[in-house]
Amino acid sequence: MFRQALLAASRSGGARRIVETAPFGRDVVRRFIAGETVDDAFGVTQELTGQGLLVTLDVLGEYVGDVRQATATADHYVELLERLGGSGLGTRAEVSLKPSAIGQGIDDDLALASAQRVCQAARAASTTVTLDMEEHDRVDATLAMAHELRRDFPDVGVVVQSYLRRAEEYCADLAYEGSRVRLCKGAYAAPEAVAFTDRAEVDRSFVRCMKVLMAGKGHPMLATHDPRLIEIAGALAVLDGRDAETFEYQMLYGIRPQEQRRLAARGDQVRVYVAYGSEWYAYFMRRLAERPANVGFFIRSVAGR
Ligand code: FDA
Repeated sequence: MFRQALLAASRSGGARRIVETAPFGRDVVRRFIAGETVDDAFGVTQELTGQGLLVTLDVLGEYVGDVRQATATADHYVELLERLGGSGLGTRAEVSLKPSAIGQGIDDDLALASAQRVCQAARAASTTVTLDMEEHDRVDATLAMAHELRRDFPDVGVVVQSYLRRAEEYCADLAYEGSRVRLCKGAYAAPEAVAFTDRAEVDRSFVRCMKVLMAGKGHPMLATHDPRLIEIAGALAVLDGRDAETFEYQMLYGIRPQEQRRLAARGDQVRVYVAYGSEWYAYFMRRLAERPANVGFFIRSVAGR
């Protein structure tokens, strides 16, 4: 219920103004977000890759209002990728792209053309793109976009959210040679008709999906901070005879950083999702919704304690 309220607030203009003008400064937000500029993102990327971690960079912003904004977002990604390529970080850092940030739902042809442009820039920088998965009503369109992109860019990653009732079916379809699939629980509010709403059911679905992906021929990217699921992933890797380079763990910047380093130190691939930019509000609210303790942290910061 509380989670639903926070997710509803993530889409509310009024709540946005309150959070953005609260006197807690940028400190609380900075726990989850690398900063507002490309330089901030590069600083964090260098620090993380120096610790043996991989990175996926996300330019904050979603559900843009018009074609001009959508094109500007794609341009920003292209510039970011040119810089990644120039710095040689392309082998350690890829990008995550939200279809709604490049015009999906406003002009789908433009969104696809922009995604192709970003994929081309990623290839030139020796790296890859993963399409984030957003609200449940965008799943079919995003899977179709990934399918289309994979004709020319077979390394484009796609996301399956285990809270979706069809998650296991999506995984079975996507577990083919070369297919990069990120599995996560799902961060949005979705109705019971299409999604499990009970946390234990979402976790059980995650395990079923992991089994399919780890036994399959693709490259699973297991995006969770959940200790039990990470342990099961390790057991499945042994059971399915997977070497460390054939799959990866993924976590968000600012969440369980010690665990990220522990897994990397034992030889596993760990990729950290690093979000940056000025449009941090919706992303930040989803992070609050994931863990009630974060709200307490936030309120204490606002109160100046
Ligand atoms: P769960 O929420 O049960 O958390 C398990 C434990 O992790 C908690 O007990 C706590 O210790 C820690 N934890 C989790 N979230 C925390 C937080 N916000 N603050 C502090 N501690 C926290 N979703 C989506 O719908 N589409 C997408 O494309 C993506 N992409 C994506 C990429 C990557 C790399 C990650 C890690 C996650 C996503 N997600 C996502 C978000 C995902 O769906 C999910 O909401 C979060 O990962 C939280 O779920 P957990 O699996 O960590 O479990």
